[in-house]
Amino acid sequence: MTATGCDRKAGGVGESPHDDIEQVLISGESIQERLSALAEEINRDYAGRELLLVGVLKGAFILMADLARRLQIPVEFDFMAVSSYGSATQTSGVVRIIKDLDLDIADRHVLLVEDIVDSGLTVNYLLRNLRARGPASVEIMALLSKPDQIRVELPIRYHGFAVPNVFVVGYGLDYEEQYRNLPYVGTLRDAVYGSARPRP
Ligand code: PRP
Repeated sequence: MTATGCDRKAGGVGESPHDDIEQVLISGESIQERLSALAEEINRDYAGRELLLVGVLKGAFILMADLARRLQIPVEFDFMAVSSYGSATQTSGVVRIIKDLDLDIADRHVLLVEDIVDSGLTVNYLLRNLRARGPASVEIMALLSKPDQIRVELPIRYHGFAVPNVFVVGYGLDYEEQYRNLPYVGTLRDAVYGSARPRP
């Protein structure tokens, strides 16, 4: 898969884009293919161990579900919800935990699952927070990242795709809570934003 830019398979069979979508950047088919490869790696890396998947709400719920069904190792699930102070589309780096984990992660192997790493500040905060709880290990999975936006160095162990510095929706990602259910990742038409196009 290409590191940035458009996907050759975008808009393939069974995937006529939603009317509000300007361009499909990563097709559903490409996402599923990449997930299969990542799940194979995870199955191999954690063979003989139990894994706790920690999803960051809300964006990661689709990725968690699709990934989980490809895992053959024993796996448990938990979720965190965080709120970042800042504008609607940009993180400030100050993160507040809205919903904490239900489970104790001490001595557990944890995989933190994110839909997108943008500035990286949310995952950076969560990584430090989780490490402080004494897990056996913590790794990061991110379906998407924006290399032009990243502000901290992050050890992303399982990575899907790099996307350009544009506002993207679909596959868990929203604009005003809509479009999370689209099976692909794409950009929205200008008309959808009215006069207030969000910063990427
Ligand atoms: C998105 C995404 C990450 C965060 C990434 O969540 O799911 O959690 O922003 O940004 P960062 O790398 O700049 O910190 P969002 O705040 O949009 O919440 P949502 O998942 O509920 O839509």
